[in-house]
Amino acid sequence: MRNLISLADLTPAELDRIVRRAVFFGREGVDRRSLAGKQVGVYFRKSSTRTRTSFWSAATRLGADVITYGPNELQLSTGETVEDTSRVLGQYLDALVVRTNEDVEEIRRLGSSPDLAVVNALSLDEHPTQAIADLATLTERFGSLDGLHLLAVGEGNSSGAALALATALSPGLRLTLLCPSGYEVPKDKLDLADELAGGKAAVTQVTHPDEVEGPVDAVYTSRWQTMGVAKANPDWLKDFEGFQIDDAFLDRFGGPDAVFLHDLPAVRGQEVTDEVLDGPRSVAWRQAYHKMTAAMAVLEWCVVSPGN
Ligand code: CP
Repeated sequence: MRNLISLADLTPAELDRIVRRAVFFGREGVDRRSLAGKQVGVYFRKSSTRTRTSFWSAATRLGADVITYGPNELQLSTGETVEDTSRVLGQYLDALVVRTNEDVEEIRRLGSSPDLAVVNALSLDEHPTQAIADLATLTERFGSLDGLHLLAVGEGNSSGAALALATALSPGLRLTLLCPSGYEVPKDKLDLADELAGGKAAVTQVTHPDEVEGPVDAVYTSRWQTMGVAKANPDWLKDFEGFQIDDAFLDRFGGPDAVFLHDLPAVRGQEVTDEVLDGPRSVAWRQAYHKMTAAMAVLEWCVVSPGN
């Protein structure tokens, strides 16, 4: 059993292997039985359309049985400790997929049982399986990540942090984070990315579009109000002026074959226009599909570890 809690726990070779497996599922089809006889729990304490459903679908397609838990359905919500929960569930389940309001260290405690593989399906500070789906989408589109330049625009949320770590582990991939001042990816995540990249300048963060050194191969954005949570400043929207992705933005920074990615859900007309999200350069819908192939690759890696 292996946990997938933070991308920082993986080696470049391990991340590459998981991403290539997701691309393989996208190319060859998604009906495999490599998890037959296994049991997977899906425990989400926050709302989700893609991640929860795609993990359920992935586990089922791989032949596993699945149990899902809502926010208040485990005795964790009445005070049982995280460690006791892990110890008990490890006797019933092979893997537990978790979305939580806490940071990765809380999920690590849930992953303390050696008999239970725990997958971080979004913590407060990281969204590792999203980044795996993102890299699978880019790999499928461009054939390789080597030499690509990705521009991620908007709030420096858990998807941005995961992209920074994934970039640091992917030789030849460059990431520019363009976040409004005050909404950047936290410094500790960028420091961790630098450390993982061995000092190579794989990730750059800037706060104004004029600071972006293009061209880029892909422009990525996220919903500005992450998880729909209102920001403290009632005038926060003003801070995001100039950060909407429209065709002019794509033309300004994108090279001739540039694509648009969005982790979804989107607020149409806010961080992205309809024309871009639904347009010919958008791979956001394929990216959503790769949530499922990424989930399959992650579950296999955690529970049965097959070759490709
Ligand atoms: N991208 C993503 O994590 O979507 P959900 O919140 O719907 O799972």
